[in-house]
Amino acid sequence: MNKKRVAVLISGRGSNMTALIEAAKARDYPAEIALVVSNRPDAPGLASAREGGIATTVVDHELFGEDRAAFEHALDEALEAHRIDFVCLAGFMRLLSPRLVKRWSGKMLNIHPALLPQFKGLHTHRRALEAGVKRHGATVHFVVPEMDAGPIVEQESLAVHQGETEDTLAARVLEIEHRIYPRALRALAEGRVTITPSGEERLTH
Ligand code: GRF
Repeated sequence: MNKKRVAVLISGRGSNMTALIEAAKARDYPAEIALVVSNRPDAPGLASAREGGIATTVVDHELFGEDRAAFEHALDEALEAHRIDFVCLAGFMRLLSPRLVKRWSGKMLNIHPALLPQFKGLHTHRRALEAGVKRHGATVHFVVPEMDAGPIVEQESLAVHQGETEDTLAARVLEIEHRIYPRALRALAEGRVTITPSGEERLTH
């Protein structure tokens, strides 16, 4: 099988990255994790990736100061050098410019710990509890220039329990994340989900 080459971009712990690495070990999985990129040299996920024998690169945004174009150029060069087909953002805490996002349009996924379009941005679990929602969850979506927007590829929800805390909710949502990200990447790599130039999603099974 001609597996698609995937880069996972992280900034921290990397548990979604690990879920993707584990899923990609299956012989029939249509993608391989060819590269892990972190914008932070101290991201714990880097060590896990190296232990798994995955190539890693650090593109430290701090070295580029305010020059976002130069940071993104370095990022893109790393992706190019490793002949990457698809990019998965997994806890990557940098906003990408419309230029880079458009270059990877239809080839870049993100995971967000909420049922988009609800609770875009940070502290999603706290905000979900404050809002008193009965259901919460996680979403994998195509990346478009607007943050935490873009066509939804996978979504799964759970019932919010009585007495739930931010931590218990985060842990339960994380289990969903680890399930749906490999599923979404599989759909993308198998060509079952695409984004049209107008940003409209087409999903076929
Ligand atoms: C996850 O909750 C992800 O949805 C969000 O940031 C967190 C990253 O966790 N974007 P990890 O680094 O994958 O463990």
